[in-house]
Amino acid sequence: MRRPVPESVRRAWATEPPPGTGQPASLVLARFAEQIAPYPLGNGHPRFFGWVNSPPAVLGVFAEALAAAMNPSVAGGDHAAYYLEHQVVRWFAGLAGLPVGAGGLLVSGASMATLTALATARHQAMSRAGIDVRASGLQAGGPRLRLYASREAHGCVRKAAELLGIGTDNIREIDVDDRDRIRPGHLAGLLDADSERGDLPVAVIASAGTVNTGAIDPLSDIGAVCAERDVWLHVDAAYGGPPVLLLHEYSGARDALGRADSIAIDPHKWLYIPVDAGLILLREPELARGAFSLIPPYLRTDDESPGSPWFSEYGFEQTRPFRALKIWMAIQHLGLDGYRDLIARDLRLADYLRAAVGSAPDLELLAWGLSVVCFRYRPAGWTGTAGQLDDLNRRLASAVQDAGRAFCAGTAVGGQAALRACIVNPGARPGDLDLLVAEILRHGARLLSRDQR
Ligand SMILES: Cc1ncc(COP(=O)(O)O)c(C=O)c1O
Repeated sequence: MRRPVPESVRRAWATEPPPGTGQPASLVLARFAEQIAPYPLGNGHPRFFGWVNSPPAVLGVFAEALAAAMNPSVAGGDHAAYYLEHQVVRWFAGLAGLPVGAGGLLVSGASMATLTALATARHQAMSRAGIDVRASGLQAGGPRLRLYASREAHGCVRKAAELLGIGTDNIREIDVDDRDRIRPGHLAGLLDADSERGDLPVAVIASAGTVNTGAIDPLSDIGAVCAERDVWLHVDAAYGGPPVLLLHEYSGARDALGRADSIAIDPHKWLYIPVDAGLILLREPELARGAFSLIPPYLRTDDESPGSPWFSEYGFEQTRPFRALKIWMAIQHLGLDGYRDLIARDLRLADYLRAAVGSAPDLELLAWGLSVVCFRYRPAGWTGTAGQLDDLNRRLASAVQDAGRAFCAGTAVGGQAALRACIVNPGARPGDLDLLVAEILRHGARLLSRDQR
């Protein structure tokens, strides 16, 4: 579990200069064991339920070392890493139900996947409007660009809007229902009104598993709205992708996913792959090539030579790490059925936690979806103000984390401070969740009695 890094260790890191002369590897490793390994984020522990950080799949850990030993750049070329990445991308495109010809590439995570997708969508929308955004940037005039997302969309959508020059003021906020899911009718209205005004819709961003509450947007209806208007649909399946791709219960969402233009999936979340491992899938990868390809003379290849076209033509990175190996090895080791079992177990544990929260008189369930459960401490008979309850829950998240016996994150749901547990942890057992609940109740009561003194 997470332990605070002692002041002495932090000070040493902040002040120590690089050594002039080298040291034996055994000493360097001893320092790792002494000063680094004891202070992890904590996500290898069975009682870590913070954010969406899983422990690493065992073969993924070894794959990292093997990939580093080979140390290729997977920009492109005729070597194993290139072909393995194609295989991994093809597996996921197939699982997502994308048509033959779909493709994509591995990236650092869903933030980069989203940026890649939205840059491609922007390039396509502007090309259709007769503007070459690669040449003229956003300085050629032209219509106002629009993105469409709900307030539940991950922050990387806003960052991408900023970087792509679309601007956050031009993100239309789509209404959500009482379970945080996009209302397709509202989306349709926004798109129609904007088109009538002469604005240029660049993309709609929907989620298969929102980061805060695990909501899955009605992808089929959203897909129909986008298809009728020929607008790019990007699905953020960073967190929820694995259950949607693999589990029977989510086959409806999976069928709809197959109609998206782009899909972001993070194997480093719910497939337990060591960070970093993100994936962008594209229905028509050549559109990304149109947005990104730039082949300097010293790298020139033709499409016919083995190892071409290069991945670096489809995204921003030139030198690219061998990310495919850890995904490939973990999938080879666990198999899709092994993954199905692990993910289904995480989901059952989330149900278990939800039931435990529901039956605890001092806890209030606020929202849940997939393996996320959001709730707050609200002692029975609470008579304080809403602001005091928020303050108590904010301090409670830190108190539980600092005590170091179990870890959940703090968040806000519907404007109320909340605790959030996300279970992407094959090491966890029901007893670990019992202990999390006990810790929350214990620290909640302690903070409350201190406040009342
Ligand atoms: C739903 C969702 N989208 C996007 C992201 C961003 O992913 P990354 O941190 O891998 O860039 C996250 C991260 O938690 C997420 O949960």
